[in-house]
Amino acid sequence: MQIFVTEDYQAMSRKAANILSAQVILKPDTVLGLATGSTPQGMYKQLADWCDKGDLDFSQVKTVNLDEYVGLDPTHDQSYRYFMQKNLFDHINIVQSNTNVPNGLAKDTAAECQRYDQIIRDMGGIDLQVLGMGHNGHIGFNEPGDTFELDTHVVDLTERTIEANARFFASRDDVPRQAMTMGVRPIMQAKLILLVVSGEDKADIVKAALTGPVTPKVPASILQLHTNVVLVGDKAALSKL
Ligand code: GLP
Repeated sequence: MQIFVTEDYQAMSRKAANILSAQVILKPDTVLGLATGSTPQGMYKQLADWCDKGDLDFSQVKTVNLDEYVGLDPTHDQSYRYFMQKNLFDHINIVQSNTNVPNGLAKDTAAECQRYDQIIRDMGGIDLQVLGMGHNGHIGFNEPGDTFELDTHVVDLTERTIEANARFFASRDDVPRQAMTMGVRPIMQAKLILLVVSGEDKADIVKAALTGPVTPKVPASILQLHTNVVLVGDKAALSKL
């Protein structure tokens, strides 16, 4: 694992954006696995700026997002589709039909999960997967459990996750209780993983995930088995490593 420690969130965002842009420059038709959450927001802003300046070209890039809330319309301001449009896709020259987020409104969620895995297979897998980390060690919405789930699946969100994400909704009751998330197979098959972490409140889980036992109780711990992980974190998040 290659580790970059940065002074603060802004420097972390810039470093992560540099790594992602190197991938896009070297392989213009790259397949990006993308994450939501507050951590990659600064990176997306930086990428949009560079694209605006003509330094980056997303016209051949394809993307698959990790997850989506079950029951949220893509136009809902807390849906992950909306997040991606507002934070990245609306600001870069990507072909919108080349962007993929699970459909939170799908009536048959099992069929939607299968459709999503097929999309990833048809793309030939992921070249670079961006990951954040939840406070309980979740990646995407792979919550702590007894087994690692391999394929895209529906999850019941844990109380901790509902609590953590409540800040984005009008009230805690408005937070969806379920999500669809990519499983660990396409994540672990990604050629490169770009893991971004920020803030003192992530220091304990970063330590547990990256230096503790590999266990589905801390889903991000499986990243210890991936041979090509780049971790970019500010010094607060990496303070206990
Ligand atoms: C969310 C997302 C994850 C994200 C995590 C951390 O619930 N499903 O993909 O990595 O929680 O979010 P944040 O970066 O806001 O701490």
